[in-house]
Amino acid sequence: MAGESASDTRDHAPTQNAMGRPPSKIFVDGGDPQETNRIKQLLGFVDGQTTNPSLIAKNPEVRELVSSGHTLTEEEEAAEYRTIVQAISPLVGDGGVSIEVFADLNTTADHMLRQGREMFSWIPNAYIKYPCTAEGLKAAHRSVAEGIRVNMTLCFSQNQAAAVYAATKGSRAPVYVSPFIGRLDDIGQNGVDLLKNIERMLATSDRHVLVLAASIRNLQHLLYCFQLGVDLVTVPAKVLEEWAGQGRPLPDESFEYKPVGTPILYEKTNLQQPWENFDIEHELTRKGIQKFVSDYRATLREAS
Ligand code: E4P
Repeated sequence: MAGESASDTRDHAPTQNAMGRPPSKIFVDGGDPQETNRIKQLLGFVDGQTTNPSLIAKNPEVRELVSSGHTLTEEEEAAEYRTIVQAISPLVGDGGVSIEVFADLNTTADHMLRQGREMFSWIPNAYIKYPCTAEGLKAAHRSVAEGIRVNMTLCFSQNQAAAVYAATKGSRAPVYVSPFIGRLDDIGQNGVDLLKNIERMLATSDRHVLVLAASIRNLQHLLYCFQLGVDLVTVPAKVLEEWAGQGRPLPDESFEYKPVGTPILYEKTNLQQPWENFDIEHELTRKGIQKFVSDYRATLREAS
């Protein structure tokens, strides 16, 4: 596949829409209902929420339980997670609340799907997060056939996004794919290029897949998402507070994102092929799963 520079795609200065909202829907990236509520008071709206096992482990009540020596059983952890998303659910708009299944590198699609079904019943606006692995894609394929909305997480390559597209074709509800920008920056790549490449790849698609920019670490990332006009962006409270504190700036014509690493090249991709054809391996997906597992396990009681 011939590589092309990510800068070959459109750039434009976005404007606020009629509701005075930025061009991308804004999700809170966190695991604390009080924080979501605070951001909602600050901005006047929150379109959606993403959670993950690390963020749930950081929830103030979970942290307090764990630091007072009350580690949790798996059932208690799931009950805590359920309580947290039930409190967040009514606070957000139509972007819903993303809930992540507990998966390690050996978790099968069957096991993920069982969790997904259960978690999807917790709240009326759930999106189930599965990792961009072969088992995660199988679980997503079966989920959308059952009407379970999905958010494919830990996406670090254009091929993974293409596989998400192919595996979820025919979904009645929008499918989210979450490219992780900051974590690519961390390994010396220009993370936003992946976002741009996926947007470009999907531009002429049936648009059943929406891009949810994730691992947003700073205002530059957020402004770039607005400039690109990504569908959805999930943002830590700290960055949203900074954005609000600066008067909610949008990138103007002169905005230029300063690359932070080596470019990620665009690859011409045929989306009309089985998802199994795509090479979906990525070391950061594996590392991301391992990190979620270790943060999750840190809250659990040792099995006796
Ligand atoms: C959201 O869905 C992701 O889990 C989150 O944005 C990851 O962000 P991080 O790379 O800063 O942990």
